[in-house]
Amino acid sequence: MEQKRINILGLETSCDETAAAVVADGREVRSSVVASQTKLHEKYGGVVPEIASRAHLEKIYPVITEAMERAGVGRDQIDAIAVANQPGLTIALVVGVTAAKTLSFMWGKPLIAVNHLHAHLQSALLSEEQLELPAVALIVSGGHTCLYEADSPLELRLLGSTIDDAAGEAFDKVATILKLPYPGGPNIEKIARKGKAQAVDFPRSLLGRDSLDFSFSGLKTAVLYHCRGQDMQGQDRVDSMSEQEIADIAASFQAAVIDVLIKKTKRAAEKIGAKTVLLGGGVAANSTLREAMQQTCERSKPPWRLLVAPKAYCTDNAVMVASLAYHKHQAGLFAPLTLEPSANG
Ligand code: KG4
Ligand code: ZN
Repeated sequence: MEQKRINILGLETSCDETAAAVVADGREVRSSVVASQTKLHEKYGGVVPEIASRAHLEKIYPVITEAMERAGVGRDQIDAIAVANQPGLTIALVVGVTAAKTLSFMWGKPLIAVNHLHAHLQSALLSEEQLELPAVALIVSGGHTCLYEADSPLELRLLGSTIDDAAGEAFDKVATILKLPYPGGPNIEKIARKGKAQAVDFPRSLLGRDSLDFSFSGLKTAVLYHCRGQDMQGQDRVDSMSEQEIADIAASFQAAVIDVLIKKTKRAAEKIGAKTVLLGGGVAANSTLREAMQQTCERSKPPWRLLVAPKAYCTDNAVMVASLAYHKHQAGLFAPLTLEPSANG
């Protein structure tokens, strides 16, 4: 007899995307709906929590309905409701958590809570049957930059993380300095294609020989000084810069971030004798980073197998939530209806 497939409805509202997805058996994407709030936050140059929360409230019901319709499933075919309940903006997370708890109660389906960062890592495992161990995972997003040793989707050991700004945050802040539109990451990547990565020698902070932590705030400040002068008393030169000069700064900044991400991942992989490297999170959508990581893994002796999240599932989405929740479902790891959101992961 054919084994019953497990359909999970996943919800994601940790920051500025309202997302719902239906995933079968943790890997077959039956639907994925993402309502982005970029337009709402654009004029503030960053995510405004209160606005994000209200937009989630407005969108959560239509997004869930659309995900169910596109998947062609009714509530009877859903086996569990999953939600990312941490880390993130509490007043944003609470919308997804409340919706998931309500559906769980009304439909009589189990509730599953997942960690948003661990879900980012799961995006890199979507197509993978068997994870060859040891595996090191780099998660680079707007709020976090973390290295893990991954034994399975549910067994992660934190090896290092940022002591100040996250990589995506640095991209966004540098984009603001360069007066590029929000969100910064994709716009820096776009203009950097026209620039020279060697044009400006920005600092690469490695925090000592053995450290697996990251620091990007010095790099961000170096870009600021480059544009406004060491004492910050000088004129903001960005308005008078040519497009080429801005492209050169963007390319040089991007190269510095990528250099650090690659060096630290290499360090971690060598330390644990990794066979596999996983890459996920919003910044993993960056093609230059993807290519640099691919080259690093190919050149390592012996080579490391690289698993990168598909571009569509690098930035926030609910497929990664439903996919990770499948593993929790199989392990019987359910959440109570008293589940709460938490800002920290
Ligand atoms: O994972 P994500 O969607 O949200 C968080 O969990 O934070 O990541 C968003 C971050 C933003 O900082 C955005 O600028 C960055 O990912 N990002 C990129 C690119 N696409 C998104 N950074 C560099 N290059 C990109 N192509
Ligand atoms: Zn994220």
